[in-house]
Amino acid sequence: MDDVVVQPVNLAERVDAALAVQALAFGLTEDEIAVRRHIVLRHLQNPGAIAYGATTPAGRLVGFVYGMPNDRAHWWSTVVEPYLRGTGNDDWLDDSFVITELHVHPEYQGRGIGRELITRITDPVEQPRSILSAIDVESPARKLYRSLGYQDLARQVHFPSAMKPYAVMGAPLPLRRR
Ligand SMILES: CC(C)(COP(=O)(O)OP(=O)(O)OC[C@H]1O[C@@H](n2cnc3c(N)ncnc32)[C@H](O)[C@@H]1OP(=O)(O)O)[C@@H](O)C(=O)NCCC(=O)NCCS
Repeated sequence: MDDVVVQPVNLAERVDAALAVQALAFGLTEDEIAVRRHIVLRHLQNPGAIAYGATTPAGRLVGFVYGMPNDRAHWWSTVVEPYLRGTGNDDWLDDSFVITELHVHPEYQGRGIGRELITRITDPVEQPRSILSAIDVESPARKLYRSLGYQDLARQVHFPSAMKPYAVMGAPLPLRRR
């Protein structure tokens, strides 16, 4: 990880830097960045929402993760619930910490920062398990999540406005160590 430091971050204050990282890591258009900005700031107001950032010694944000205790009333839950019900896994929506976003700047990927971010954010939470969604293809993200103990709870999940289907994954906490 060189000298990149992972620690809690005030993501509302760093939202533009975070979205710049996400735009490079995940691919976002200018319009999508503007929409995400509102969504992220709203998410961070949820009770129990927490964020960790990865910063260089110069203070540059090169990765971030945020999440919150899951709530079945949240938009994300309402979309995935029928899919999880279909596979008999909808109980995962209760007592679960949802990872909403995790992104590492491409120049800093492959150094253990993503693993450190998701492990550090979930370690202190009181929920016994974690859920998230990831594009339903083999990717570094899917490989990382599996290595941490996440398993597929539903696949080919379609979010309105997203072109590609997602997989919903869940893992017991604390996440598995290497
Ligand atoms: C997914 C992501 C956050 C991982 O961050 P990272 O800092 O590169 O990951 P790490 O260096 O901690 O690697 C952790 C694990 O991820 C997997 N991984 C990372 N890079 C990989 C690659 N290029 N190919 C395959 N697996 C890879 C491996 O399992 C790795 O574990 P290992 O080092 O024991 O082999 C990062 O690749 C990213 O931002 N990707 C684009 C955005 C994205 O997809 N975000 C997730 C949305 S659901």
